[in-house]
Amino acid sequence: MTQSALDLVIAALERIREKSDHEPRASRTALARLQAADLVTVSVVTTAALSDCLSPTARHLQAAGNKADLLAAVRERVGACTRCAHLACSRTQTVFGVGNPNADLMFIGEAPGADEDQQGEPFVGRAGQLLTRILKAMNFAREDVYIANILKCRPDVPAGSFGNRPPTPAEMQTCRPYLVEQIEIIQPTVLVALGAVAVEGLLGTRATMRELRGRWHIYNSIPLMITYHPAYLLRNQAPSEKRKVWEDMLQVLERLDRPISERQRNYFL
Ligand code: URA
Ligand code: URA
Repeated sequence: MTQSALDLVIAALERIREKSDHEPRASRTALARLQAADLVTVSVVTTAALSDCLSPTARHLQAAGNKADLLAAVRERVGACTRCAHLACSRTQTVFGVGNPNADLMFIGEAPGADEDQQGEPFVGRAGQLLTRILKAMNFAREDVYIANILKCRPDVPAGSFGNRPPTPAEMQTCRPYLVEQIEIIQPTVLVALGAVAVEGLLGTRATMRELRGRWHIYNSIPLMITYHPAYLLRNQAPSEKRKVWEDMLQVLERLDRPISERQRNYFL
């Protein structure tokens, strides 16, 4: 099959999945595999044939390799995406995601800002630097976890204006299938959604952070912790708010069965 024919098949299947009340038979992972077929036909076929003969560790390594391949294929489609014509015109580049394809822990933000649009990596601006500090306090490096946004393009703002605008519901709905694929490939043990907009994009629920944060939710059978967006902590410097985020992260560490030191328990972001 040619690449463009493949794109048509995948787009048609995605439309059925998103619009109809019954699911198409192909899982998102199967779609990603289909998309990756050109890149990794041989390795997918041999993986299927050989996995019965492999030790659990070797199988694990192969799965990790495949996750990177599968993500690379989605990244390629995202890079060429023009579903939001206005964003395809205004963006410097798409911002797909960063981190370990085999991560146990995945963070979901809202959308790239100006810095992310320039560098092509999520959470590298001021809010991102705060997220990196939070990760360090959890004993994680950025490379250990996976970080992605609901939107892969920076929401456009009028020329010469400062700041960011939140993504619209239509933009989020249009871009969401890419995030869904990322989650299905990575299959993290725990998800963290940063802020109310990320929650709306992921779950379709609109609610206040007061109602949402600090407790466990479920996305597709994956435990989901909802906490404040780091940009909120930059706007609101009250120690009580930082402490809430840290308490949410302690719950995440517990869920991941990570050891928590006394110092971490008493830590104040
Ligand atoms: N805020 C987000 O939600 N995502 C980013 O990547 C950067 C800032
Ligand atoms: N309100 C929001 O919408 N997001 C936050 O992160 C905090 C408060």
